[in-house]
Amino acid sequence: MRRKVIAGNWKMNMLPNEAIDFINALAPSVKNTSNETILCVPYTDLFYSLLTVQETNIHIGAQNMHWEENGAYTGEVAPEMLKCINVEYVIIGHSERRQYFNETDETVNKKLKAALKHELKPIVCVGETLEERESGRAEEVVTMQILKSLEGLTAEDLQNVIIAYEPIWAIGTGRTATSEDANNMCKTIREKIKEKFQSDDITILYGGSVKSANAKELFTMSDIDGGLVGGASLKVDEFSKIVNFDK
Ligand code: 13P
Repeated sequence: MRRKVIAGNWKMNMLPNEAIDFINALAPSVKNTSNETILCVPYTDLFYSLLTVQETNIHIGAQNMHWEENGAYTGEVAPEMLKCINVEYVIIGHSERRQYFNETDETVNKKLKAALKHELKPIVCVGETLEERESGRAEEVVTMQILKSLEGLTAEDLQNVIIAYEPIWAIGTGRTATSEDANNMCKTIREKIKEKFQSDDITILYGGSVKSANAKELFTMSDIDGGLVGGASLKVDEFSKIVNFDK
């Protein structure tokens, strides 16, 4: 379902006490927004965060999960383990997981199906490298990622999926895609999804060096429905301004 969403991705940062303090400080400043506010926190913060967001309009997500139901997968976390403590969202296929932990479009697809089966809402990440962009292959690469990642899903499934377009060269670099480039790619993704599923009613976020200074310009583009925010989601004031970009 298409709507405005601002999701923070804390990556491997924040201890439980810091998570609790952060949420308590953020909650009053986002309580009147209609933009959906999500924090994707480390596993060890999930339970504390879920308790702290009760009676707020902040939603909690994990940053990864395995696709199997259970079994001998030391160190992994199963979908039901997230679901049973009321985790709502899960990031799938972040470029850092693809780069450092060998995730592929095939594993992303398995995780996506497992998440939907357990009624977790996936935030699926796609994006090209600098080399792919400079060689003019960005659209082709992202289109393939989308088609392979979403293989086997139905239009109805898409109602619970969020796509995040995160060009890898813009992540943590301070280098943001221009709003036109970011919008063009989000538009391409929407068109490809429409061709495949006969529906483009899907939320598509931009991620990569989003900050309060560029949030409004990016999030008011025709095909960008909000952002997946890394570094700037670790500071309460900055993240609150990003969530309230339209105020
Ligand atoms: P930055 O906002 O730090 O560039 O990170 C983006 C990101 O990877 C969010 O998932």
